Amino acid sequence: MEYKDEFKEVLSPQTIQERVRELGSEITRDYAGREVVLIGILNGAFIFLADLVRAIDLRLQIDFVRLVSYSGTESTGQVTITKDVELVLKDKDVIVVEDIVDTGYTLEYLKEVLKLHKPASVKICCLIDKKERREVPVDVDYAGFDIPRGFLVGYGLDYEENYRHLPGIFHLTPRYEPEGFNPSER
Ligand code: IMP
Ligand code: MG
Repeated sequence: MEYKDEFKEVLSPQTIQERVRELGSEITRDYAGREVVLIGILNGAFIFLADLVRAIDLRLQIDFVRLVSYSGTESTGQVTITKDVELVLKDKDVIVVEDIVDTGYTLEYLKEVLKLHKPASVKICCLIDKKERREVPVDVDYAGFDIPRGFLVGYGLDYEENYRHLPGIFHLTPRYEPEGFNPSER
């Protein structure tokens, strides 16, 4: 599906910043006295991770993985890893930081990859949870916002690699509505 450049703001920069600070405080409380490794999923989580780590008051390390599953706007369900973790994760408390959990395929795959590193624990923190679209079960431990549907851009999220730099999050309106399409389901 093609998208026209028509945006509707769904989360303002201020709303995002306030929620990210709350997530940081929650993580700080839950892991008090422990060290954590935050693993950001590139590219989408780069801005969220950058803000989140500055809201966490713990000893922490940061690493990134790069996973590819999307072609255009549709998840192919076929996930591959193009950049693996480089830190040693054995016996570490790991928090995976993701922009959006949608079908769940990306995180299902990443959890299997991380198991090979034998961490002490793995939790998931995402900015946006699209729970209703899940095709495989994935438990999110820290979710910024529940947004059931719609294609979103900004604050790291892209449409064909564009719009990641926008400070707020916007809903992108489809150019061609499929036949029988109910706009309230967007
Ligand atoms: P999943 O494997 O279907 O859970 O896909 C998750 C990935 O799809 C996320 O890491 C996002 O990069 C991407 N994604 C899902 N929904 C959106 C969206 O609305 N805008 C931009 N990217 C999205
Ligand atoms: Mg992503």
